[in-house]
Amino acid sequence: MPPHVLIFPLSMQGPVNCMLKLAELLCLSGISVTVLNTDHIQRSLIRHTDVLSRFSCYHNFRFETISDGLPDDHPRSSELFLEILEGFRTVTEPVFREMMVSGCFSSKSAFPVTVIIPDGSFSFALDVAEEIEIPLIYFETVSPCALWTYLCLPNLIKAGEVPFNSNDLDVPIQSVPGTETFLRRRDLPSFYRCDDLANPAMHILMNQARHVPRAHGLIINTFETLDASILVHMRNLCPNIYSIGPLHTLLKSRLTIAPQSSVSNSLLEENRTCLTWLDTQLEKSVVYVSIGSMATMTVDQFFEIWHGLVNSGQPFLWVKRPGSIVGEYDDDEVSKHLMYETKERGFMAEWVPQEEVLAHSAIGVFLTHSGWNSTMESIVEGVPMICWPHNVDQQVNSRFVSEVWKIGIDIKDTCDRFIIEKAVKDVIHLRKNELIQSVKMLGEYGALSVAEGGSSYMNLNKLVEDIKSMGIKAS
Ligand SMILES: *[C@@H]1O[C@H](CO)[C@@H](O)[C@H](O)[C@H]1NC(C)=O
Ligand SMILES: *[C@@H]1O[C@H](CO)[C@@H](O)[C@H](O)[C@H]1NC(C)=O
Repeated sequence: MPPHVLIFPLSMQGPVNCMLKLAELLCLSGISVTVLNTDHIQRSLIRHTDVLSRFSCYHNFRFETISDGLPDDHPRSSELFLEILEGFRTVTEPVFREMMVSGCFSSKSAFPVTVIIPDGSFSFALDVAEEIEIPLIYFETVSPCALWTYLCLPNLIKAGEVPFNSNDLDVPIQSVPGTETFLRRRDLPSFYRCDDLANPAMHILMNQARHVPRAHGLIINTFETLDASILVHMRNLCPNIYSIGPLHTLLKSRLTIAPQSSVSNSLLEENRTCLTWLDTQLEKSVVYVSIGSMATMTVDQFFEIWHGLVNSGQPFLWVKRPGSIVGEYDDDEVSKHLMYETKERGFMAEWVPQEEVLAHSAIGVFLTHSGWNSTMESIVEGVPMICWPHNVDQQVNSRFVSEVWKIGIDIKDTCDRFIIEKAVKDVIHLRKNELIQSVKMLGEYGALSVAEGGSSYMNLNKLVEDIKSMGIKAS
């Protein structure tokens, strides 16, 4: 049977982007790939991005869609998480099983799927794969350091460390091997800050911890040097790990025709004037501020950050994404001082081409929400970080940035103008050499890992070979 991979991403922008990169890498290696998206995600991809034309050059690629069980006009916002889960459980999961067992992807079809690569949280997909006896490799798009805390959840519960038995978030955590000296309750993923194990998010994580080690393999977006301290432990549980990151760099290195500008999957229009503005700034002087495509801040937090930036005396480029500030404020109430200083030294944009911004020599520090995508991009470009994590894996990522990689400062659970001013001054002046040296070194290791003979380069080749041989076994 010719190898045919089915990639099935979680129906959210970030994971979909990441999975599309893997799809493209596999297509370039001559493997046939089908990406299964929910109808809703597919509609927004077609409306806002150039995916159709981008993938049209691959004759071995196609999209298929599946219902997410919700009406078209459902907002699918994160507050309606439970409805989204319910739609998935009652509609998507049974339809997926039917597609695999007897439908369009089954051995009875014209072009059977030989390997499934679903999102790491899709436990049901492994049950189906085991039922029809085809191999499954999970792809985890969250950071490996956060994934490791998910995989350790049964141990954390057994040891009585989760759920927390008091409100003290500084209690050290002992049941996540490799992190005993620095991980605190506060650094665990945001889901762990709940006192109810029956909570649906905890339920998904428990299932994930039980299912992921049973798969044929696990793909993660990191490189060996970056996560060596936890990969050594993770391999005891999941021996077959393909670390193929930084994924965006690996893809760039394999594309023979450079894309026009950098590949954009973003749903918002990018302001490119900021690059011209950066050209006028001193080297390593600018604070780049962005909390990514999902996170929000309150008006109070917005003003604390604003004052902190202005008081630091550094120029700043701030991505003020529409809708990212929750609550109202009156422009007349903003102090004259803040307005004046911002006009002198600040640049506010709705959205920017992040990779190009981070690569600009004027950028001195990235004030980030510590999403995994942004963290990897900052490492690749050698930019130190100030981390203000919001949720999911971000709490873990920011701790690794400050304590393991020592390439930034973690200000989690605070939002105070004095702390921000001090953090900016520390990164730009006091700890400049030390931080830049560390992050530059990591960035270079990242570049080496995707270059010919590097670990991510070799792991991708191994993944491709394994997928091809799995196809032969299935015939
Ligand atoms: C990573 O995040 C940034 C900012 O949120 C965005 O501009 C960029 O397109 C993202 N990259 C990927 C690969 O999704
Ligand atoms: C980019 O941002 C600047 C500064 O806020 C603004 O003046 C300009 O109109 C924006 N350009 C685009 C294309 O949005």
